[in-house]
Amino acid sequence: MSFLVVSLLAVSLGVKADIVDEMTLEEKVDIVVGTATAWPNPPQPAPGTFANPPQPAHFPNTYQAQGRVQGAAGESMAIARLGIPSIVFTDGPAGVRIDPARPNDKRSYRATAFPIGTLVASSWDVQLAKAVGQGIGSEAREYGSDIMLCPGMNIMRNPLCGRNYEYYSEDPLLAGRIAAGMVEGIQSEGVGTSVKHFAVNNQETFRNGINAVVSERALRELYLRPFEVVVKEAKPWTVMSSYNKINGTYASENEWLLTKVLRDEWGFMGFVMTDWWGEHDAVRQMLAGNDMLMPGTPAQKQAIILAVKEGRLPMAVLDRNVRCIINAMRLMPSWRQYKYSNAPDVKGHEALARRTAAEAMVLLKNDGVLPLTKAVRRPALFGVASYDLIAGGSGSGYVYKRHKVSTFQGLQADAVKPWQPLANRYTAYVADEQKKMPAENFWYVPLVPEMNVDDDMIARSAREADVAIITIGRSSGEGADRQASQGDYLLSDLELSLLRRTSQAFHALGKKVVVVLNIGGVIDMLSWQHEADAILLAWQPGQEGGLSIADVLTGRVNPSGRLPMTFPLHYADVPSADNFPVTAAGAHSYAPASVVYAEDLFVGYCHYTSHQVPVAYPFGFGLSYTSFQYGSFTASVDTVRQRVCIEGTVANMGKVAGCEVVQVYVGSPQTVLYKPERELRGFAKTGAISPGAEQRVSFDIPLSDMASYDADAHRWICEAGTYKVMVGASCTDIRQTLAFALDKAYTFSNRQH
Ligand code: GLC
Repeated sequence: MSFLVVSLLAVSLGVKADIVDEMTLEEKVDIVVGTATAWPNPPQPAPGTFANPPQPAHFPNTYQAQGRVQGAAGESMAIARLGIPSIVFTDGPAGVRIDPARPNDKRSYRATAFPIGTLVASSWDVQLAKAVGQGIGSEAREYGSDIMLCPGMNIMRNPLCGRNYEYYSEDPLLAGRIAAGMVEGIQSEGVGTSVKHFAVNNQETFRNGINAVVSERALRELYLRPFEVVVKEAKPWTVMSSYNKINGTYASENEWLLTKVLRDEWGFMGFVMTDWWGEHDAVRQMLAGNDMLMPGTPAQKQAIILAVKEGRLPMAVLDRNVRCIINAMRLMPSWRQYKYSNAPDVKGHEALARRTAAEAMVLLKNDGVLPLTKAVRRPALFGVASYDLIAGGSGSGYVYKRHKVSTFQGLQADAVKPWQPLANRYTAYVADEQKKMPAENFWYVPLVPEMNVDDDMIARSAREADVAIITIGRSSGEGADRQASQGDYLLSDLELSLLRRTSQAFHALGKKVVVVLNIGGVIDMLSWQHEADAILLAWQPGQEGGLSIADVLTGRVNPSGRLPMTFPLHYADVPSADNFPVTAAGAHSYAPASVVYAEDLFVGYCHYTSHQVPVAYPFGFGLSYTSFQYGSFTASVDTVRQRVCIEGTVANMGKVAGCEVVQVYVGSPQTVLYKPERELRGFAKTGAISPGAEQRVSFDIPLSDMASYDADAHRWICEAGTYKVMVGASCTDIRQTLAFALDKAYTFSNRQH
């Protein structure tokens, strides 16, 4: 019997029917106003960034958490008189983030740093996301947490968003499905989740006040869509509203968003909390359906009490919000008085972290060099990040891990001995630089600066080593967006020089060059990709990343990751490039501005395919060490069930087993409403298919999930006409094109998923 079922039974046995009726007004307000763990010294933002440091001004007024779980993000208030415990909230999307140590306590409180959200999404494997969720959920439970503040799942509107590493995709279906897997996994361990940041939080610049100007159609079909999928498919226990405004109204004060759409239309049954220090008008937040203020202040409590007494906030509304919170609390470990161990199976999750990263990495280029054959076992390993792995990003999504495995270490574990003179040079340099680094701090995670390698060393390595492997590293995080400049989106002069000189030296001797990308978001490829014979996109692969990278480089694992977003040829090609991070003139005054989502639905591949814009690497793309052939797909529409069935086979034509990600894109007729030329409507990752074998894949897609939103008629519509079905291995690698027709329009008030 699953953990959750046992706990639900326990709950149903011994708890009062409606405890809310017994509460005083003050006790109800204690439930809706939470507490935060003051950050030891408000972490300072990375120098020179557009940072919105946490609101230190609010710390003195904010209610301070009891600190039952030191370093948790916050707690709800306990009501001892009624036996209501405090509920503990902990970050983040890649693992449990709590303080790694406690005074007078010899135990470690470090957790497993799993691969970042973007890498989990690159797997296109919902079951794998669920397995990672189970790992995170069990560690959260054993460290005393009740709610994991994850997954982060905002659409990657622009590659420079500083928190994209925590997020999943530019596509709403992929983001929603991966999030659903993560939520199911975590909640199956008896711990809640908080899907975030609801909604339209697609940048860090001015995040606390920016006003996102978005059409209702783009909201419903793109920015809200992942949350709709996860709410309907996985029932998260909580939702975290976002800081920003949407069309002039703060998300946390937005009744249309938090009550009409989230609850009335989608059927959400949990509670909504603000993002941290996302407080504005507490009464408006209560009325809108933002049930809990995280954290809150005495002024907010007084404002709510006064509004109830003056009739501006009906008691029924306050009761509604309190009930949403209490009903969700009943499911949680603290309510069930679960005796957590403070000893989660962190060691046992190393294999899961390693496997997840290896299966999800994306092989972007491979001109006959990977996997490294037994003969090529002495690589010259360049790049600081080869020796100092970037396991994840910074901010609330950081994880205090027990260790991390570099590519250098991972290769050695695989009996691959990197060329010693170069390894010695890097190892010594990294060790020296690490001594200069500040103490570990989740908010500010500086990288060791890249090291130059002189021409003589490069020439010698080309003579004595078998192959060059160069790692390019990038990090980013909460509170600041990235820059489209050298050293961030673009390679630095030093990185370009190192790559070019190494490439020239090795190619002159007929030897190959492999580039590993240890990054948290999209970077420029055009200026350098021709120098590399192979490119492995490792993203930020979590603490075991060096082993995962070695697993793929040596062929122990056949890579099966696919891009969850587009790598454009030029940053200027990005449809939001002119409207990011702000639109208003005089943008960099520090006054919250507006950002107009002028590209509307045309984000990512929807833009590039609809407007025939060439890209470096398309959405859904990824290579394998084998090849697949698609066979005899069919598409048929069942107008009675109002579903479309698409099925066919995938055969492995190569010499090694491998997994394929079959993608279904649909081009809808555009008579009434404009639409992107193609949209992802289904995907399936096969199991490992043996050489010569084949696997059948099938999709049963509700018509309503293909519908477009008619904002004037306030309904969803599948227009009459011919629908083009494209089955492929990426959004542009279409292996079979089919069609089905609707002889009339179908309209829906709501979608199935
Ligand atoms: C932060 C983040 C949110 C996080 C919360 C608690 O500001 O925006 O993702 O869960 O505060 O740390």
